Amino acid sequence: MTKDEIIKKHKQYLFPSISLYYTDPLVTDHASMQHLWDVEGNKYLDFFGGIVTISVGHCNPRVTSKVKAQIDRLQHASTVFPNEAVVALAEKIAQITPGEISCSFFSNSGTEANETAVQIARMFTGNFEVVALRHGYSGRSQMAQSMTAHSAWRKSLTVPAAGFVHALNPYCYRCPLGKTYPSCEVACAQDVEAVIQTTTSGQIAAFLAEPIQGVGGFITPPKEYFKIVFKIVKDYGGLFIADEVQTAWGRTGKRWFGIEQWEVTPDIITSAKGLANGAPVGLTATRPEIAASFKGLQISTFGGNPVTSVAAKATIDLIEEDHLMDNAATVGAYYREGLESLKEKHELVGDVRGMGLLQAIELVKDRVTKEPAPEATNQFMEECRKRGLIVGKGGLFANVIRTSPPLNIGKSDVDEAIRIMDEALVAISPALAGAAGRR
Ligand SMILES: Cc1ncc(COP(=O)(O)O)c(C=O)c1O
Repeated sequence: MTKDEIIKKHKQYLFPSISLYYTDPLVTDHASMQHLWDVEGNKYLDFFGGIVTISVGHCNPRVTSKVKAQIDRLQHASTVFPNEAVVALAEKIAQITPGEISCSFFSNSGTEANETAVQIARMFTGNFEVVALRHGYSGRSQMAQSMTAHSAWRKSLTVPAAGFVHALNPYCYRCPLGKTYPSCEVACAQDVEAVIQTTTSGQIAAFLAEPIQGVGGFITPPKEYFKIVFKIVKDYGGLFIADEVQTAWGRTGKRWFGIEQWEVTPDIITSAKGLANGAPVGLTATRPEIAASFKGLQISTFGGNPVTSVAAKATIDLIEEDHLMDNAATVGAYYREGLESLKEKHELVGDVRGMGLLQAIELVKDRVTKEPAPEATNQFMEECRKRGLIVGKGGLFANVIRTSPPLNIGKSDVDEAIRIMDEALVAISPALAGAAGRR
């Protein structure tokens, strides 16, 4: 099929709610490691990795060779029969998860992983209410949408599931309390207690949050935030659920899980995306006594599928063997310097944030008023694409450029990305280029 035929059929046969990047959609053809090609043969440096999912490079042969062998051996048997691939993966996860987390439930997506986590937290604690954070994203089911706190993702006219309340998020660049860190003394963390006291029965099943909010625009809390919240959650009977759909598997550098950066040991970890380098997977991992509290039966037809499990185990092994958590820290720090230099140079860049190889820039029309610049964000993406770089977008105001390249990129890839971003910023703000320092 030609590019135009694919776009035409996409419009005709798929839900229009599936929004596409770019005015002229990028029709993918094939990919290898950090590069992706469209059907017209254009090559791109992929700094979004299929939405924070390509951990070790597109079609990495060290993953795909194992996947291919497994497909020829056993594609599917369902959860009612054990298989070697799923137990090997679960054992590996038990070895690397923090604290006493050692039991896994596999499903197909981050949405299901979060649903499972909430269900089990309710069964374990006997409590019902769950505290989530504003600007968070938890998935697309009714329950996950009810935890999600972005109006754009809550428009399905589904009656919101009961029992979910939202606390202020630790968004220092746009502090919801109008304060400044560190003189604020992380006052936003106390809002979790106020929300529990005023909008719940006073005993909660769980608190669920992303260690760095992904769709929200890589909102990175002050280092004390989750420690304070953890104590509050425990005081009110809840389990702490770390939604690691975007932050796990070494992405934030040095540690397997984003929550470990904040020195908190969660009760439950959920994940998906980068775990299997592109194979569909959902994970809910917890301590044995919590896992044992699940009442009744459950299956997930495809959960723990041997092919997906092999992909996930091969991805984790590769991250370990090639020390990619260290690479994410080192190359991530180098990348961060480059992004900070763009902020120095271009007024449009209001904030740079993230950790490791999870880095974002927030674009604003004015650095003083911080008025979001969503149109410039779209233009920036178009200009990057023209020059061969793919980046992602996010944020409540659609003005945050999100980047999450494979964990095995090198400094030369960063140099290329920063050069292209610089050119893109010059292209969209010629009058402002080089005007840094005026404010
Ligand atoms: C933090 C977080 N949780 C949950 C989800 C839902 O995952 P999925 O799209 O696999 O259902 C996402 C997806 O972007 C996410 O970013």
